Amino acid sequence: MQATIARVGGDGIGPDVVAEGVKVLKAVGRLFGHQFEFREGLLGGIAIDQTGVALPPETLALTRRCDAVLLGAVGGPKWSDPRAKQRPEMALLGVRRELALYANIRPVKVYAALINASTLKPEVVKDVDLIILRELTGGLYFGEPKERRGEPPNREAVDTLYYSEAEITRLVRLGFELAQNRRKKLTSVDKANVLETSRLWREITHEVARDFPDVTMEDILVDACSMHLIRRPGDFDVIATENMFGDILSDEASMLAGSMGMLPSASIGANLNRFGRPLGLYEPIHGTAPDIAGLGIANPLATILSSALLLRYSLGLEPEAARVEAAVEKVLQAGYRTKDIVGPGGAITSTSDMGDLVCTHL
Ligand code: IPM
Ligand code: MG
Repeated sequence: MQATIARVGGDGIGPDVVAEGVKVLKAVGRLFGHQFEFREGLLGGIAIDQTGVALPPETLALTRRCDAVLLGAVGGPKWSDPRAKQRPEMALLGVRRELALYANIRPVKVYAALINASTLKPEVVKDVDLIILRELTGGLYFGEPKERRGEPPNREAVDTLYYSEAEITRLVRLGFELAQNRRKKLTSVDKANVLETSRLWREITHEVARDFPDVTMEDILVDACSMHLIRRPGDFDVIATENMFGDILSDEASMLAGSMGMLPSASIGANLNRFGRPLGLYEPIHGTAPDIAGLGIANPLATILSSALLLRYSLGLEPEAARVEAAVEKVLQAGYRTKDIVGPGGAITSTSDMGDLVCTHL
């Protein structure tokens, strides 16, 4: 296969970890006889500095031309003034909207070798293997009106929570499809006791469920779900929810795995690439960690695992994706640890050594 991948490092440790993801993809290419071509794009704070805007039109055009996008992270204290006209987060939200990336897949898996890295008891997290499927282009993030009004002492602000049937249906349908290929359980999360959008969400989820009789479906209210996630996380398989709930629950769920440095994500949508697969954006769920940028100590595994998701969803290369995931598991089993997951007194592996190790364990 010959594929073109946009390489967008972003800010902070973004470029450090993306370099390792690219390294692993190239190694997979050599091993399986694929040609992956990488094209670099600017996004986030670095794009503000160099071009004046967080999401330059050239970057957007680049992502549209490529088969998939591998992204590091965007943001940092330098650009964090909430009143600034250009903010790095705008780039992320802009790409999601422009590429119609409506589905955010966040797998949370606890590796046996890292069972003690979580702040929760090993017996609670030992069987965790779930996916948070978050709606990504609707809800409070994008609903209109969204504005500030009035002057002191009568200032007001409004955000709008809106969902259409089509938006809910496509997300929930994907949730059932994911569950079908896993443990066949879908948990739909809403706040149907209060919100009208949630009542519509629940109604549609039950309708879609009829097409998936092999999948067990349950509804949970979001507050209860946040509790069950730390009480009995092993019971969940696929959790499907709207944008804001998914944002919050996925950070909570990430702590089951001990470190944000381990968790990948895929954002896919309606646009197809040259292979007839979803054009997707793949990124670690962690941020830019500006304090350790360039020091060579960031954990690249979340990005490497994101490149596995890229192989799976955007390129349809399942065996290759599974090989990368297995290699990560082997490297962890062999005892290699970056600083964020090392135990007391353990030896620390650098960012680039970790990338090399995954390549040699492929
Ligand atoms: C995430 C992040 C973003 C979000 C921010 C940076 C806008 O928290 O990807 O989860 O809220 O979606
Ligand atoms: Mg978030």
